[in-house]
Amino acid sequence: MTLYDSLRGRFRSSPSNHTVRRVRGSRRATVFGVSVTAVAIALCGELLAADTPTLAQLAEANGAYMGTELTQNLLSQPTVTNIAGTQFDMVTPGNEMKWDTVEPSRGTFNFGPGDSIVAFAQAHNMRIRGHNLVWHSQLAGWVTALPLNQVQAAMVNHVTMEATHYKGKLYAWDVVNEPFEENGALRNDVFFQAMGSGYIAAALRAARAADPAAKLYLNDFNIEGIGTKSNAMFTLVQSLIAQGVPIDGVGFESHFILGQVPSTLQANMQRFANLGLDVAITELDDRMQLPASSANLTQQATEFRNVVNACLAVSRCVGVTQWGVGDADSWIPGAFSGFGAATLYDGNYQPKPAFSAVALALGATSAPPPPPPPPAGPCQVNDVVNAWNTGLTANMTLTNTGTTTINGWTLGFALPGGQVITSGWNAAYSPTNGQVAAANLSYNGVLAPGASTTIGFQATHTGNAAAPTLFTLNGATCTIR
Ligand code: XIL
Repeated sequence: MTLYDSLRGRFRSSPSNHTVRRVRGSRRATVFGVSVTAVAIALCGELLAADTPTLAQLAEANGAYMGTELTQNLLSQPTVTNIAGTQFDMVTPGNEMKWDTVEPSRGTFNFGPGDSIVAFAQAHNMRIRGHNLVWHSQLAGWVTALPLNQVQAAMVNHVTMEATHYKGKLYAWDVVNEPFEENGALRNDVFFQAMGSGYIAAALRAARAADPAAKLYLNDFNIEGIGTKSNAMFTLVQSLIAQGVPIDGVGFESHFILGQVPSTLQANMQRFANLGLDVAITELDDRMQLPASSANLTQQATEFRNVVNACLAVSRCVGVTQWGVGDADSWIPGAFSGFGAATLYDGNYQPKPAFSAVALALGATSAPPPPPPPPAGPCQVNDVVNAWNTGLTANMTLTNTGTTTINGWTLGFALPGGQVITSGWNAAYSPTNGQVAAANLSYNGVLAPGASTTIGFQATHTGNAAAPTLFTLNGATCTIR
């Protein structure tokens, strides 16, 4: 085992409770008793010798982690799990640990989805960020229907049960998520209505009692730069610390819009760190209007680099997590109509300019080589969507990129929410929304190697006119062109 492997192993062996020691810049520190200078020299040699270090390896050499959000439905997609399990060393479940999934009715707990993410993370030596225990959104309806005098008991029980279930397995918990309004007031949700601002301390105390090793965070968006909302978070955590409430860190979601990454990001994280807290970039994405231009992808690379550099410059910044493995599974197109291309990987899971920029910021000695051509799948799909305010047409050209003739085919794809097919051509579509199967007609079922055929449909939509992000032909995944 090389020193690099052993360091990597050590970083990963005690995921939930080790103190990250920096190997950054000229800071003098020790990493597990070995002097930084010695480690840095050894690491340098190892990195230079290695073919292409992963983002995880590069981050670990900086005493930090590189994380990704991951959802259960992606665990069956080898392209995604291969990237998630190699390039990243931290995972945050996208939805699987949220209240509406975990405790959909009072006292009935469903840990299966979250457990599947934990199992994946453990199998790949990744740390896990629990997300989240208390949040106004994706909250089970029964909580908001409770008489207010029962909400505290329900919240403390939920926090206790969930944090106990995952005890010892998680690096950190987002204990309270998104507590603030944009104007800096605490959000007037059911927890605030029931307990006032004291719900935050109550949730933190319950989480600490259930899992003493997990780092306890408050997490929010639009607190990345210095401003009204981050000032409110700053005042809140100062007062929690003063009262002796257990809090270890603040998470900066960082759902950025291209061109709007705040210039005060580093200074803002530093002032929280100066309170003795860890800080983390927890949900990074950088969205742009679609289709993405190459100039915008270049600017995005600069912005990802700046975010990573800001974290590296703050010694208490423990790591950076992006929200989504790639553009194909990102929440952005579904949540912000017309926007997308917000992550490090494109719609075909090929690394984007931002990927190279992050690798270089983390200390890669050269930009990673251009991505290899996508593996020659049995099929390729070129989907051209033309949309207007309430409708769209999609023309999909299928090409047989395999070596044998296809005799009869079914193209499978998931229509984004709100899209309903009203008519189609050159294929039979069923059903008209959700997961759709498009079957060949009598005249276009035979596709010799290299042959193409074009099919299409007209659909209505309710704001999301995005194309499907995954196509299968007779069950095999197609390359998207
Ligand atoms: C998003 C998920 O990615 C989506 O799948 C879901 O539909 C909505 O929530 N802030 C958070 C995350 O803290 O939990 C949100 O995740 C994105 C915004």
